[in-house]
Amino acid sequence: MKILMVCLGNICRSPMADGLMRKKVVQNDLDVVVDSAGTSGFHAGESPDSRMRQTARSMGCPIDDLQSRLFVIEDFDEFDRIYVMDKSNRRNVLSLARSVEDEAKVRMILNESYPGMEFEVPDPYYGGDQGFVDVYKMLDEATDAILEKIRS
Ligand code: 4NP
Repeated sequence: MKILMVCLGNICRSPMADGLMRKKVVQNDLDVVVDSAGTSGFHAGESPDSRMRQTARSMGCPIDDLQSRLFVIEDFDEFDRIYVMDKSNRRNVLSLARSVEDEAKVRMILNESYPGMEFEVPDPYYGGDQGFVDVYKMLDEATDAILEKIRS
């Protein structure tokens, strides 16, 4: 099983989802590969946003070693599931899909914790510190739900 987390910049939301999922995979000794990417390459090569890294560290799930990269079409071949953070990410990813099989891999991550609700993980980039804590909590719940499904 290979899981890709996707947002816009790959410096706030998707690296947090990536770090949380990697941690849970290791803790549960699962054979799952986790990665993340952004639909914009604007921050490619950069570490996650310092505010997201600070929140991640304070919550016990450091993501300092991750590095932003652009989502590429080949990711549809490489990964089994592609979790997006919001509807804009979903539009961007689906615009690159080549087949219904590619499209079927794409899911809104909060639909795992709140099935069918189409809730979005809000972009915390232009907001205050609380936004990063909120993102952490939403993604902690969502990755718990993903983990439970994989284990059952
Ligand atoms: P992310 O947040 O998509 O959660 O990584 C953003 C980071 C940077 C920008 C937008 C969103 N930006 O416009 O630079």
